[in-house]
Amino acid sequence: MWLVVNFKANKNLKETLDWIDAVGPSLPKSDSLKIVACPSFTALSEAKKAILVGNYPIILGSQDLSSFPPGAYTGEEPAKFLSEFIELSILGHSERRTNFGETDKIVAKKVSQAFENSIIPLVCVETPQMSIPSNCKLVAYEPVFAIGTGSPDTPENADNIALEIKNKAGADTEVLYGGSVNHENIKAFIQRENINGCLVGTGALDPGEFLKMVEICNI
Ligand code: PGA
Repeated sequence: MWLVVNFKANKNLKETLDWIDAVGPSLPKSDSLKIVACPSFTALSEAKKAILVGNYPIILGSQDLSSFPPGAYTGEEPAKFLSEFIELSILGHSERRTNFGETDKIVAKKVSQAFENSIIPLVCVETPQMSIPSNCKLVAYEPVFAIGTGSPDTPENADNIALEIKNKAGADTEVLYGGSVNHENIKAFIQRENINGCLVGTGALDPGEFLKMVEICNI
């Protein structure tokens, strides 16, 4: 079971560290629940230290990475550099596709940079028809109408779509649901047969609400 937190551009360094210190001591050390926090690039280095010092069961991830290797690419964050800090990267999020012109081709290049640097790509798709680069075994179904709106998809529909994704990308693909997940509705999603966890934004920003979700997922 995965519980992945996407901070988006919501927390600065201090706020990220406060969140880690607020939740860290209460997190269960569980083999079956994988808790991933994806703060902004500027928080990754200190977040990694805080996780190590506190010995917290938090996997660190990024919200993006460069489609290019290190070199003359001003402003980019290559996977090779990020791999010092992170184990996973959210790729192809709909906010990146909409606001930053990310295409399937760019997402595929980012996925190969992730693989080359031993980073797990978590590829986001809005529909099961969208392209999933080969060998991606962690996919998030995030319908645009549900992202940040307070109107999630129904657990039943999300489950059907998760199955479609597994049929397309392989039965060993783990599928997360994302879009307006909170501590009140998360149980209905994770109970579904084909849903292997959730990708949460707004609903996880508050440490107390996030811990309620952890408790529900840690079964
Ligand atoms: P939300 O965002 O939980 O705020 O809807 C989820 C996401 O975009 O990953």
